[in-house]
Amino acid sequence: MKMGENKPWYNDQLRHYDLEFGQIPRLHYTDPKIDELIQQNKPVVILGSDIVKSAKNRWTPEYLEENLGNSGHTVFLSKGHKFKYYDESKILSRTNSHGVEFTPPTKKIRMKIGDFMKKLREWKPGQDRLYLQQPLNNTVGPSLVQDFVNFNWDYITKKQTKHQWGPLTSNLLLISQEGNVTPCHFDEQQNFFAQLHGFKRCILFPPSDFECLYPHPVYHPHDRQSMVDFDKPDYEKFPNFKRANGCETVVEPGDVLYIPIYWWHHVESLMEGGTTVSVNFWYKSGTTNLGYPLRDYQKVSITRNLEKMLVEVLQDPKEVGPLLRSMILGRYTE
Ligand code: OGA
Ligand code: ZN
Repeated sequence: MKMGENKPWYNDQLRHYDLEFGQIPRLHYTDPKIDELIQQNKPVVILGSDIVKSAKNRWTPEYLEENLGNSGHTVFLSKGHKFKYYDESKILSRTNSHGVEFTPPTKKIRMKIGDFMKKLREWKPGQDRLYLQQPLNNTVGPSLVQDFVNFNWDYITKKQTKHQWGPLTSNLLLISQEGNVTPCHFDEQQNFFAQLHGFKRCILFPPSDFECLYPHPVYHPHDRQSMVDFDKPDYEKFPNFKRANGCETVVEPGDVLYIPIYWWHHVESLMEGGTTVSVNFWYKSGTTNLGYPLRDYQKVSITRNLEKMLVEVLQDPKEVGPLLRSMILGRYTE
C-alpha cells in the first residue's frame, strides 16, 4: 500500500504477523510481463484470464454440494486454525524409527460433501475446524466434468508449453472454512492457483529464503514445511526468520496466482469472509536445464537430494548434522 492510500476493505480480515510484506504484481492476462515473470520463476497474479471461466462464480459451496458426487472426499480436521501438511508415508519409515516421535496435527477423514457442508453450516467456535482437499477425479458429477472440460485449456496449455513445464499432474480442489490457514511450505511443482469463491491471502517467499524459514529435515513427516510458527515465532531457534523476504496478495474469484516451483507459500482464508473454493493446477518441472549459474530453486533441490542421500547411507538422521559440520569446519567456512 502506498502512503495515504485507503486501506483495502479486507484489512481487518487478515491475521497479524511480525513481518512486513511486499506486494505480488497483479497483471491483466494479456500483459507480456507475465511471461517474463514466469520465465524468471517469480510469482504473479493473472487477472481476467477466465482460466476457470466455467467455474468462476459458479463453483459456489451450494453448487459443489449438488454436483461434486457422492463418493466421499478427503477432509482434514484441526483443533486450531492451522492445517499443517504431513506426509503419512514418513511416519512409520525406517529412518523415523530412529527417534522422531510424531503426532499428526490434523486428522484425515473421508466425508460426503453433503455432510461436510452441513458441518460447516452448523459449526460453532471450539469445535474442530474443517478443510476439504480432494484431487479432482472421475468420481465428480457430470456437471462438474463439463465445467472442467470448459476451463480455458488453451491459455493454460500455451503457458505450459511456452515455459517448458512438464505434464499436469493433478488439480486439487480446496474447500475451506473461513479463517483456516495452510502454514508456510513449498511444493516441488509449478502451480497455477485459481481462486473461485471467497478470498484468500497468499504470502510467498523465494527459494533463497531457505535459511530464513527453516524447513523440517527431509525424512520428517513435515518435510517441505517451515518449522517456524508464524503466530509465535521462536526467534532464539529461528533468528533469520526476521529477514524473510515475503510478498503477498489477496486472491479473489477469477484470479490465478502463479506459485513458482520451490517458492514458499502460506495461505489463509479471510477470517470472516465465508467459505472459500480454489482449484490448483500442479505441473511437473520442465526438462532439467542445468545451465549455469544455477537458479536458487535448483540449489534447494540439490540440498534436498544430498540430505536424503546422507540420511539413507548413515541410517540415522542424528548423524547427518555432525558429519556435515565436520566436513565444512575450518575448510569451507571462510
Ligand atoms: C497449494 C497450497 C493451500 C491452500 O495449492 O499448493 O498449498 O490452503 N494450497 O489453498
Ligand atoms: Zn502448497
